[in-house]
Amino acid sequence: MCGIVGYVGEKRAQDVVIEGLRRLEYRGYDSAGIALVATGTIASDKRAGKLANLEKAIADRPLPPATVGIGHTRWATHGAPNDVNAHPHSGAQRRVALVHNGIIENFAELRVGIEADDVALLSETDTEVAAQLLEAEVLTGADLTTAMLRLVNRLEGAFTLVAVDALDPSRVVAARRNSPLVVGIGDGENFLGSDVAAFIEHTREAMELSQDQVVTITRSGVSVRNFDGSSAEGRRYHVDWDLSAAEKDGHDWFMRKEIHEQPRAVADSLLGRRTPEGRLHLDEMRLSDQELRDVDKVIIIACGTSFYAGMVAKYAIEHWTRVPVEVELASEFRYRDPILDYSTLVVAISQSGETADTLQAIRHARTQRSKVLAICNTNGSTIPRESDAVIYTHAGPEIGVASTKGFLTQLVACYLLALYLAQVKGTRYGDEIDEVMRQLEAMPDHIATVLASADAIYAMAAEHVDTRSVLFLGRHAGYPVALEGALKLKELAYIHAEGFAAGELKHGPIALVESGLPVLCVVPPAGRDQLRDKMVSGIQEVRARGARTICLVEDGDDAITPYADTVIRLPKVPVLLQPLVAVVPLQLFACELATRMGHDVDQPRNLAKSVTVE
Ligand code: F6R
Repeated sequence: MCGIVGYVGEKRAQDVVIEGLRRLEYRGYDSAGIALVATGTIASDKRAGKLANLEKAIADRPLPPATVGIGHTRWATHGAPNDVNAHPHSGAQRRVALVHNGIIENFAELRVGIEADDVALLSETDTEVAAQLLEAEVLTGADLTTAMLRLVNRLEGAFTLVAVDALDPSRVVAARRNSPLVVGIGDGENFLGSDVAAFIEHTREAMELSQDQVVTITRSGVSVRNFDGSSAEGRRYHVDWDLSAAEKDGHDWFMRKEIHEQPRAVADSLLGRRTPEGRLHLDEMRLSDQELRDVDKVIIIACGTSFYAGMVAKYAIEHWTRVPVEVELASEFRYRDPILDYSTLVVAISQSGETADTLQAIRHARTQRSKVLAICNTNGSTIPRESDAVIYTHAGPEIGVASTKGFLTQLVACYLLALYLAQVKGTRYGDEIDEVMRQLEAMPDHIATVLASADAIYAMAAEHVDTRSVLFLGRHAGYPVALEGALKLKELAYIHAEGFAAGELKHGPIALVESGLPVLCVVPPAGRDQLRDKMVSGIQEVRARGARTICLVEDGDDAITPYADTVIRLPKVPVLLQPLVAVVPLQLFACELATRMGHDVDQPRNLAKSVTVE
């Protein structure tokens, strides 16, 4: 939430900062702003709305040349998304400029203190309060790093702060507490960003910071201090994707590109997971076999789409290992006083690795002595760093705000975890695990087959542009797929969409069914005939009440045809793996329908990638 950029070097800072903001805009797009240090002054501009508004403003009224700057793209928390509340904020004397991600919880109290000194605050933001306090420190003669250290010790809450001082063009200073910030290490230039996309065009060398640290970047170096003032070191790493991964590559939307990247993303996430002898091995598994053998309960915590991946994981882990699994929304987890101990494995699923609810949930789990394993797509992010083990997915950067390839690769990681637990605990023989691995390795081709029929799904979407409500039904592993299909439609097309376990239909939701209502049904594959037959009954029941049924059916299953207004064929795959193919038509449907309705599918309204506030 909120994208932050900082730059010091030899290049035109305006260009570097604006380009960085463009790549981070998926993190928030309520407003955007920039501040440069130009010959002893802060030169800045900030505008409500998307980055394009800021770009237009600075094209009409150019900022002076500068080689040091900061920028911000906002997802509003305190105050409406207007020009005044947009970042950067300055002190009354415009000595410093500051951008901020997160929430300063004691800001009301700090604001009262500032106003008591007769300083008029212009905005409703907590950020302006921090800017005033930072400026006050600088005006005492402190350098910007010292001033930042003093400031952060007065703040409560979660924040990333990045600041410049009008009289010190040598440095940009930042601080982080429970909010993302990475450093980009260049040659004669250095960068700060909410994530590496901010500077990937310039460098693939990055440094991750720990919590409660202040970092100072100059042209020639990076220095890190803990909030108590002691010096520290960040961990350096190489980013394994390049600029092309963060470009649309001929597609009209990042989301469409990311849907089409799924065969590759799934293949990459499966790569290198077996030893030459054929045994599964997970590099980032820092838990010993004995620790895993001791696990007698798994609790999966996640939010949104990642939560649905967790629901699929429950079926897989319980089936292959017979270990009981609970799946819990991260935002609810801590508040029910969950029963945890050293033999509970907590699995946190997060594409971004920064989701505040999930982060707080794993911290709670660790206080209860449970081991935490993260499934994450973002190297250098907080959740894997605070976990005992991690399985990285290899989706590459996901820039569309709605998760697509992130979800599919999370599913792959969940299957791998389930099989790995089965191998360690001995609940499945090696040849059974082998067989599932072979099936998984065939999935990229199956996903490509589904994508090859995208035009038929687009045509179906075209018929639904006036639809105001859609239901999704599924059973077993198809149930989370139904929930995910509904979520995609809500967040992209802004229409009412609900996913239900088909068996629950008669317990209430069937009352929603009326003539012409589209009902998308994920039909379980053959081999699960009882489930499939019950699903067919559910389809008949909604059809009898006038619903228009769109059935996702395994190739060759013609028994459904009489009850389906539209049939979408899926490749033949085992029931547990079916989500990997079944969700793809639902992603395509939501993306196309929303596009046809004129919506921005990469940056849906009110949303932001990476939800770093609770
Ligand atoms: C939906 C979506 C969100 C995220 C959720 C968790 O398309 O993207 O529901 O899945 O905010 O995010 P991560 O996985 O980054 O923790």
